[in-house]
Amino acid sequence: MLKKILTGAAIAALAVGLGACSSTRPADGGGDAAGGTSECNVGIAMPTRSLERWINDGEQLQKKLQDAGCTVDLQYADNKTDQQISQIQNQISGGAKILVIAAIDGSTLGPVLEEAKSQNATVIAYDRLINGSENVDYYATFDNYKVGTLQGQFIEEQLDLASGAGPFNLEPFAGSPDDNNAKFFFAGAWDVLQPYVEKGQLVVPSGKAPANDDAWASIGIQGWASDKAQAEMDNRLSSFYGDGKKVNVVLSPNDSLAIGIEASLKSAGYTAGADYPIITGQDADKANVKAILEGLQAMTVWKDTRALGDRVFTMIEQITAGEEVEVNDTETYDNGKKVVPSYLLTPEVVVKDDVQTKLIDSGFLKASDVGL
Ligand code: BGC
Repeated sequence: MLKKILTGAAIAALAVGLGACSSTRPADGGGDAAGGTSECNVGIAMPTRSLERWINDGEQLQKKLQDAGCTVDLQYADNKTDQQISQIQNQISGGAKILVIAAIDGSTLGPVLEEAKSQNATVIAYDRLINGSENVDYYATFDNYKVGTLQGQFIEEQLDLASGAGPFNLEPFAGSPDDNNAKFFFAGAWDVLQPYVEKGQLVVPSGKAPANDDAWASIGIQGWASDKAQAEMDNRLSSFYGDGKKVNVVLSPNDSLAIGIEASLKSAGYTAGADYPIITGQDADKANVKAILEGLQAMTVWKDTRALGDRVFTMIEQITAGEEVEVNDTETYDNGKKVVPSYLLTPEVVVKDDVQTKLIDSGFLKASDVGL
């Protein structure tokens, strides 16, 4: 159980020691080296309600914390950076001692995090890294590079690329240019696929094949928007796929893009079956799991957001108890100011045959959510 909420003088006395005992925090935080406790007053800032996963992420963590006696303020920012900044400001002025932030634009939160630090709040970057600020204490996420690797390897295996098969027509997409995760997803996938592009086993008729991992943003879809992905796919299909040429495979970094791409393919006359392209995804959103069952999407990379919530809950327990915060990666996530101590969870591939065992039996989705 989390420590009971402390009030009045106890808070004043202990707040200064918030989290100062973690071995991964710099020693200049001051406070009680023997393990002080601090108030469980948490602000959770999520990007948008328009994507299922963030609704689940926010509500599950909020419930867990409230059940443990914490004060929680959960906000969604409609994918608008200014809105998210003012929500975080309100949380700070409302006394939040721990901020859990899934950033919309991970490079814009420096000033508001200065305010957070001036009140000794501990900042946990949730799922997405916050860049360019010293004031990010921890990062909890899934292994983002691995998400991309799983997508790339899936394509490699399905097309038997390692045995030299091809050529296949590939259309690659990347995530939102302002989301730090998007570059890791792309790099993970492109490190597997680009060698096959170079060998000519994968051909990109639209020419939208980034020259290297760092060029990923050139094919990024702003805000991870399904309609923008659909419009982009419409353009590629109408400009580069005349004369019966067919798309064989689409690298889609997540499910919201995949939905748009699938809508575009549908309106261009593609139907499920042998000639339907392989399409990747991420998140196991209900609509995409349905698409997997219908043969309109080949896979999704499932990140059990309950496990991420549990991990952040554990971090908050450790912070409020003045204990060392457990992390498992202190190398990968350099935000430009520091390497942020991180806890990385493991994503996994879900295909049609796994829907029941992985998603439904585990309670992540209900059978009725996906028409079973
Ligand atoms: C998350 C993905 C999600 C995407 C769009 C990324 O930062 O890691 O799970 O699909 O944002 O919301």
